[in-house]
Amino acid sequence: MAALLAPVEESYFGGMMHEKISEALNAQIALEGQSSHTYLTMAVWAETQGFDGVADFLYAHAEEERMHMLKLMRFVNERGAVALVPTVHAGPTSYQGLREVFESILGHETKVTENINGVVDLCLSVKDYTTHNFMQWYVGEQIEEEALARKLLDKLALAGDDNGAMYLFDRDIMGFMAQASNKA
Ligand SMILES: [Fe+2]
Ligand SMILES: [Fe+2]
Repeated sequence: MAALLAPVEESYFGGMMHEKISEALNAQIALEGQSSHTYLTMAVWAETQGFDGVADFLYAHAEEERMHMLKLMRFVNERGAVALVPTVHAGPTSYQGLREVFESILGHETKVTENINGVVDLCLSVKDYTTHNFMQWYVGEQIEEEALARKLLDKLALAGDDNGAMYLFDRDIMGFMAQASNKA
């Protein structure tokens, strides 16, 4: 019996996930949790500045990022490692305007994409094809999120800086999102 209970050696096939992979996935969990919190802080800023459309978009986005975090946590636990609940902090609480918010979103999402690519590289280097396959969902998600952030920045650039233009952007943001997801 003792032999059956012995830990599976360095193999992660059907057993414990490679330690490097669980570390990388836990770092990704922390990043998704932080993303959720950063979007939440932005949503509060937008709502208190009167940008209700942008606030709706950001609150919804904060929920999505939390879902990204949970999906990773469940995967890590199911594969025999332990997901770490991350410590998160509030993002910046004030912005010059909507352009700064969306530039910051694009910068943040670009960083997340780089991190995801790093996890994918690591999966290949340790031959963990199961995690590699799982991570493809995140690769696709990042393509959409970066495209949406760029689209919204383009719209803001077209709108100019006056209050009337910002009002229209805020009113139309949900429509821009629908257009972007139809194209993706
Ligand atoms: Fe995410
Ligand atoms: Fe994201």
